[in-house]
Amino acid sequence: MRYVIENYDETERLRLTALADLLDPYTFYILEQIDIQPDWKCLEIGAGLGTVSCWIADRLKATGNMLCTDLQTKFIDEIEHPHLRTEKLDITLSPTYSECFDLAVVRTVHQHLADHHSAARNLSKMVRPGGYLLYIEPDIHPAFSDEHPVWKRVWQAIFQWGESRDIDYFTGRKVPGQLSDIGLDVISARGETALFNGAKDGNSVRTVYRMTLDIVMPDLVRLGYLSKADSEEVYSLLDNPDVWLMSFCFFATLARKPICNDD
Ligand SMILES: C[S@@+](CC[C@H](N)C(=O)[O-])C[C@H]1O[C@@H](n2cnc3c(N)ncnc32)[C@H](O)[C@@H]1O
Repeated sequence: MRYVIENYDETERLRLTALADLLDPYTFYILEQIDIQPDWKCLEIGAGLGTVSCWIADRLKATGNMLCTDLQTKFIDEIEHPHLRTEKLDITLSPTYSECFDLAVVRTVHQHLADHHSAARNLSKMVRPGGYLLYIEPDIHPAFSDEHPVWKRVWQAIFQWGESRDIDYFTGRKVPGQLSDIGLDVISARGETALFNGAKDGNSVRTVYRMTLDIVMPDLVRLGYLSKADSEEVYSLLDNPDVWLMSFCFFATLARKPICNDD
């Protein structure tokens, strides 16, 4: 499985830290609606830095276990937690566990996968009947209706760039239907969109977008998806504390595997 970020270096650690700062409060708010039991077996796919896994592991006792996984385990292998272990796991491959997890979490991973249904099926097979699945995935639509034309243009360019790399920036809205298609019961599906400005200190949303643009901008300009003038203008917007921009919407879809699932 090819993932668009090939370097798991210190810059990527900073970008994942900013992403976790942006999404953790919302993720924990949704997770709080599930009555996580201390003896649960839980799984996270594509955990990045593992902040969500650590939050869940803090709620477990010795009889429970948090399995924190990623394609690349460099960052999560640094975690030391009595109820958490790490493993390399590619969700596009046949599952190595069968119906043993009470809860599985996927956050901003699904969007990078070419075959969403097959990946969701792989995950569903690992969750026990009655167990929960939580997907938090982005949907680009708020950026398209932003009042700053260049912010729209940059995301239109990234959308085009992503299409050739199997990255779907409209994943968030599709997850509930995909989970229903494979026989899961969707409990709730809701989104959160952050507004952010160019204030430089402690602004995790700005950091996520700035660092993501740093990765894709050379390609966008080289491939002709965005003009050089637009690329300069967008960076100046991101440095302007008086400008407020719309981020993606992150849709959280919470589903449950039925007790009798014929899938
Ligand atoms: C944008 S990061 C999100 C990290 C973390 N879930 C978060 O929200 O903070 C995407 C993560 O998905 C992982 N990933 C990409 N493709 C994957 C796959 N096929 N199976 C498992 N993990 C994958 C990457 O290694 C990366 O850590």
